[in-house]
Amino acid sequence: MKVLGIDIGGTGIKAAIVNTKNGKLLTERYRIATPKPATPKAVAKVVKELVHHFDWKGPVGCCFPTIIVDGQCKHHGNLSEEWLNVKVDKLFKKECDGIKFYVSNDADLAGVAEMKFGAGKGVKGKVFVITIGTGIGSGLFYKRKLIPNVELGHIYHTNGIIIEKFIADSARKRDQISLKEWAKRFDVFLNHVKILHTPSMYILGGGISKKFDQFKEHFTVDVPVEVAQFKNNAGIVGAAIYAGKKGKK
Ligand code: BGC
Repeated sequence: MKVLGIDIGGTGIKAAIVNTKNGKLLTERYRIATPKPATPKAVAKVVKELVHHFDWKGPVGCCFPTIIVDGQCKHHGNLSEEWLNVKVDKLFKKECDGIKFYVSNDADLAGVAEMKFGAGKGVKGKVFVITIGTGIGSGLFYKRKLIPNVELGHIYHTNGIIIEKFIADSARKRDQISLKEWAKRFDVFLNHVKILHTPSMYILGGGISKKFDQFKEHFTVDVPVEVAQFKNNAGIVGAAIYAGKKGKK
């Protein structure tokens, strides 16, 4: 089945048509910068532009960078506060002349792609797919089933500041630290989550995962750490798989 997958991120909104049978992109990825401020109105306009770019009339799967319950935004995250309680699926449907949208958390959907066709294929234990970008996303799978909206990035770090403000790729850039220094920070987090959850595997995605070979040696955690096979496309692919499945129900 062919489905349009859209990944709404803190810096870019990306889309491609995906073959949901094998997770392969059938088109080039098309990217538009995330509007600033990223209000519901501004983001919906970009989504419409993407749908028009692909001349798409079928169902759309969409990754959203915050907590989503039944298509509704439950936390504004790194976007505008105006998102709180917005029914994201309904908003996009209205903006795009009634085509159907299936919206879920971005890390959860990146995880769906990795578990089905990527680094988590066949892994049956407890797996965390962690996306590292503007924020920290975390998709939890147990016996291959998604447990949605687990927010590891919101664990407190110090003085009420959440850990993602310290270990996301945006923090590495803000603090101008080396990959090694960043990896050491991240390793503390991986060790802490190990105590909390005893995962069988970590899969790391997001832009920085492209540099995995340059920083993996700095990890001390004794849980296998793999790199996301879909790299930065995991969200698009997972969103399309999700919509393909939901659309059949
Ligand atoms: C949000 C998560 C999201 C992650 C990556 C975090 O700030 O709380 O829901 O998955 O960013 O976009």
